[in-house]
Amino acid sequence: MLNKELILSHLQEHPWGSFLQVFDTVESTNSLARALAAEGVPSGTVILADGQTGGRGRLGRSFDSQKGKGLYFSLILRPELPPDRLLHVTPMVAVAACDAIEKASGLRPGVKWINDLILRERKLAGILTESSVNFETGFVDYLVIGIGINCSHEPEDFPPELNAISLHMAGAEISREQLAAELIRCLWEMAEELVSGKEAWLRRYAENCLTVGRRVKILLNGQETSAFATGIDPDGGLVVRYDDHSEGVISFGEVSVRGIDGYI
Ligand code: BTN
Repeated sequence: MLNKELILSHLQEHPWGSFLQVFDTVESTNSLARALAAEGVPSGTVILADGQTGGRGRLGRSFDSQKGKGLYFSLILRPELPPDRLLHVTPMVAVAACDAIEKASGLRPGVKWINDLILRERKLAGILTESSVNFETGFVDYLVIGIGINCSHEPEDFPPELNAISLHMAGAEISREQLAAELIRCLWEMAEELVSGKEAWLRRYAENCLTVGRRVKILLNGQETSAFATGIDPDGGLVVRYDDHSEGVISFGEVSVRGIDGYI
């Protein structure tokens, strides 16, 4: 079981420490965070669970959430952001999560556009950002930033098709409590700059993005296209060059990357 007191001792009087909620097993920390956000809990509330029975990923996928083996983390934020300016949130979170993982383990993952953290060409962590818009104000009411990190899994804990890795498999024995505290600190720094400071974060995202400079397959509305990823645009979209030399920006959908997703 995750030790809340230990997390708080790593946090040393952090402004978000008093909002921390730690659970044994929940269906999904993101679902719980959304319910709590709708009830009005403050910005900076962090929900952690030792295990999830229905961990959710992007594009309706599930997220493998074995009890005691991973960090299952959701943060509620209430930024003053219009909904059309949400695309850069997940890239900024990805950079903050890479920073936190590096601080806790000494290993720095890269990012597969837009929300997967990759170590040794395998998936180490995933990010699921969800939002609710207040149609009266035209602003975001709340954001739920969900992060799942594989910590102590053995290779046999993952079905091979997941192409997953844990920090333990990569040689790092970490404390989940310290990792949680580093995540809270790094996400706090990110949240301070969420509305006005995205440029520097997106520069760092581009530097950490393993997708840039590779051939990618893009799956959009059931249609598959092949392209070359050339960069990240000012909102966090993936800039690609198609085979007919035209350029485009991918803002959502699925992008698979040669090598990382095991396609040749
Ligand atoms: C993905 O791989 O597409 C994103 C995975 C996000 C998983 C985390 S675990 C904590 C939080 N609760 C969830 O149900 N999902 C996120």
